[in-house]
Amino acid sequence: MRRKLVAGNWKMNGSLRALEELVAIAAAAEAASAVDVAVAVPFTLIAPAAALVPTLSIGAEDVHEAEAGAHTGCVSAAMVREAGARFTLSGHSERRADQHETSHDAWAKAAAAHAQGLQVILCCGETEAERNAGRAERVVQAQIEKSVPDNATPDWFTLAYEPRWAIGTGRTPTLDEIASMHAIARAKLRTMIGDAADGVRILYGGSVTGANAADILACESVDGALVGGASLTADKFVPIIEAAAGVGG
Ligand code: PGA
Repeated sequence: MRRKLVAGNWKMNGSLRALEELVAIAAAAEAASAVDVAVAVPFTLIAPAAALVPTLSIGAEDVHEAEAGAHTGCVSAAMVREAGARFTLSGHSERRADQHETSHDAWAKAAAAHAQGLQVILCCGETEAERNAGRAERVVQAQIEKSVPDNATPDWFTLAYEPRWAIGTGRTPTLDEIASMHAIARAKLRTMIGDAADGVRILYGGSVTGANAADILACESVDGALVGGASLTADKFVPIIEAAAGVGG
């Protein structure tokens, strides 16, 4: 039985003042004891967030794959771990688009994060053009092939399927489309990591809100949600946590 995971991603948003939102989010997370809750925040907010809400899993949105060295402006997995992060995202589509990161980069970052004891939420997902061209399945399979470390196990590794055209747009795939891609992703994982694939959580991400969370999270193949915009405030994020708890945790 895979526990549902509701993970927030603040992206380049937030401030010390905005951390107050995490207090109510942490309280909701404690109340929803059958569900795991996590929030990825900008690097500068990791330490104060981890100190403010020690019961909540705070994470990074990215890490550099090297342990240390001449990489101006970058932050390593060891650094975010020391700041209090328990996990990191890897291969988010905005990193792939804005920073030209490849699936190989996502693999290296995931491996580096695991080596430092961080959990990893690795993101994959097709563009709208790829979906329209009938290539969505092959794109996601190839991303998984190139980015999932071959020692991935459910205790530290989570996959997030996030169709790029659904991120921040208010558009979502149909429930059938989500279920179908999650099945394809799990089958691909099984070819790589064997039976461990059955325990790996596969999240859905892209315009998840309090209004659609219950339906999406009720899909048997959906083990949780990766939430951007609706994770920034407790009044939007808590209903998603409650929806996850309501569909059986
Ligand atoms: P969104 O972002 O919920 O704002 O669509 C999801 C994500 O990028 O992880």
